[in-house]
Amino acid sequence: MTRKFALDLVRRPRRNRKSATVRDLVRETELSVKDFVYPVFIMEGSNKEEAIPSMPGMTRKTVDVLLKELEECFSLGIQAIAPFPSIEESKKDHTGSESYNPNGLVPTCVRAVKEKFPEMVVMTDIALDPFNIDGHDGIVSPTGEILNDETVEVLCKMAVCHAAAGADFVCPSDMMDGRIAAIRESLDNAGFTNTSIMAYSAKYASAFYGPFRDALDSAPKAGDKKTYQMDPANRKEAMLEVSLDMEEGADIVMVKPSCYYLDILREVADMSDVPVAAYQVSGEYAMLCAAAENGWLDRDRVVLESLMGIKRSGAKMIWTYFAKEAARLLSKEK
Ligand code: PBG
Repeated sequence: MTRKFALDLVRRPRRNRKSATVRDLVRETELSVKDFVYPVFIMEGSNKEEAIPSMPGMTRKTVDVLLKELEECFSLGIQAIAPFPSIEESKKDHTGSESYNPNGLVPTCVRAVKEKFPEMVVMTDIALDPFNIDGHDGIVSPTGEILNDETVEVLCKMAVCHAAAGADFVCPSDMMDGRIAAIRESLDNAGFTNTSIMAYSAKYASAFYGPFRDALDSAPKAGDKKTYQMDPANRKEAMLEVSLDMEEGADIVMVKPSCYYLDILREVADMSDVPVAAYQVSGEYAMLCAAAENGWLDRDRVVLESLMGIKRSGAKMIWTYFAKEAARLLSKEK
């Protein structure tokens, strides 16, 4: 065919997109089921499962029900889970003492999971909000202040309790100062030198945690979390938090939320010498579910695209409520 009009171009980037196989060859980022950490909501009792209205498809479940779900996770190739507990009101107090009860919900769950699925990596949340009557991640003083050092003392007990139950990672999500060093020291002193710490390092005071707090009934009773979680306006502060957590012994650092914080994620990935995790939080999940349910977005495609964006921005692993769904989609793609 003679061409009526041709640009004199040496470089035509479209050549690298000309077929599916060429696109496969040049693809810079691969998403894998091995990247996912699946957060799950647990509660006391047996044989019970409750829907979470603001997180369609996610449920709160008793440990026996979770174990059944984990068979499915395991067969899908999901290798890591993060249980979050819903605690009965009667067990909550002002210092979160249920958080280090060796027979509490989290240690019980960890033991059950590790017994049935020894290879499954279990990552437990370290913060007081599910156990604290005030709904804050730290201890609240009579004047409403969040007490840093007193909180860290409790977090250390909690971390040792989870390590004793067999948690592979303890994951402080509380944003108190100095908690990584203190937890590392407590773990080491108790003989748990092999228990890893995944630090929620750059955790922002985000409205995107709303559905999670519905799931656990853990919203603060008064005030907000702005004196400990970070201001969404700040970037340099994230680098400070990450640097401190690495110096203090974090094995992995996290940026949270994910999709509105990809600039932070990229910068953290470039500056850190430990692997970086990102948390696609409950509100990010809820938004995509809502739009897909209305037929406004193509669910399969936005689920994978959102996760790919997070991975491309530097996350080595992604905490996502879409873990099972994305695992299925990825296996279909092959
Ligand atoms: C608790 C914790 C929260 C999340 C993870 N750990 C809530 C909060 O800080 O208020 C949020 C996760 C999500 O929204 O999916 N410290």
